[in-house]
Amino acid sequence: MKKIGALTSGGDAAGMNAAIRAMVQPANPQQQEESVKKIGVITSGGDAPGMNAAIRAVVRTAIAQQVEVVGFMRGYEGIIHNEATPLRSTNVSGIIDRGGTILRSARSKTFRTYEGREQALAMLHQNSCQGLIVIGGEGSLTGALKLHEEFSFPVIGIPGSIDNDVAGTDYSIGFDTAVNTAIDAIDKVRDTAYSHDRVFVIEVMGRHFGFIAVEAGLAAGAEAILIPEAPFDVESLCEMLKTAAARGKRSSIIVVAEGASKGTDVADAIAAKTGFETRCVVLGHMQRGGSPTAFDRVLALRLGSHATKLLLSGHTAEMAGLMAGLVVSNKLADILAETREVEQEKRDLAELMAR
Ligand code: F6P
Repeated sequence: MKKIGALTSGGDAAGMNAAIRAMVQPANPQQQEESVKKIGVITSGGDAPGMNAAIRAVVRTAIAQQVEVVGFMRGYEGIIHNEATPLRSTNVSGIIDRGGTILRSARSKTFRTYEGREQALAMLHQNSCQGLIVIGGEGSLTGALKLHEEFSFPVIGIPGSIDNDVAGTDYSIGFDTAVNTAIDAIDKVRDTAYSHDRVFVIEVMGRHFGFIAVEAGLAAGAEAILIPEAPFDVESLCEMLKTAAARGKRSSIIVVAEGASKGTDVADAIAAKTGFETRCVVLGHMQRGGSPTAFDRVLALRLGSHATKLLLSGHTAEMAGLMAGLVVSNKLADILAETREVEQEKRDLAELMAR
């Protein structure tokens, strides 16, 4: 190994210490002599059914390799405030069927600042954590990548979000359960829509993309599905409803993703332009709760276990995912640079089924 020199010069700047640390610490912990003895795990951002199963898989996979696990409550916020709790095998018993997350979750404003992340790093070191597993959506995974980039701290991500908009995986933990919750609600609404000859607009979650709307809308036989990816026109929607009514259709279901429009705005516009009796139902946070489906539980176990094995074998800044039925890993930087939209094939199918 040859020697290199380093100096800091001119005005000081946030991040200089981190840059020095990155120079003296190997980026890949595999290069380090010492084996991993303790890792941390958090759930962060919007909770999603199946997160508990993922925690269970992380803990039991680590324990099988004689590695201790510490859980931090309330995501990054709990790391910053040192809300650490040891997780043993018994702590993750009886949680596989529970919605929400036993570690709780939060969206941390402090962690978005460099100082907040420095504080988090100090707490991770104080707890002797040699790596961190982050279960969450895009924002949470971006935070994990920052810990790696700024401080060379080993991190592995697990996609946990009902929105299903994380690239590098076909499914995020919680999406399947949320879709089934939405379908259950839409089926019930259809009964009353039919009985009263009404149009119902059902608003589902999905700020940026329409994954829940398309999947639930297709499965529940919605007459129209409005998503942020595709601009829609209320005039043509109303024309479509009038044509359907002229053909004898007496009730309709319109599913709208929250990012496309407020459900109430769509319902008001339909009522005003068609004169049809129209109601709006906002499903809201009920989509985030409930016992996870078998699909989400098994997905969470597979991704949780794979993520832990990745971390313990020296990988960092990667995310465990499921692609074409197989457990894979992708670089966090690549995943976060990619935009994942609802597949065109499903959008075309929704269009076709609406006729
Ligand atoms: O990201 C998950 C999600 O449920 C989105 O679908 C929704 O827009 C958002 O979180 C709601 O966030 P909050 O619970 O902070 O209101």
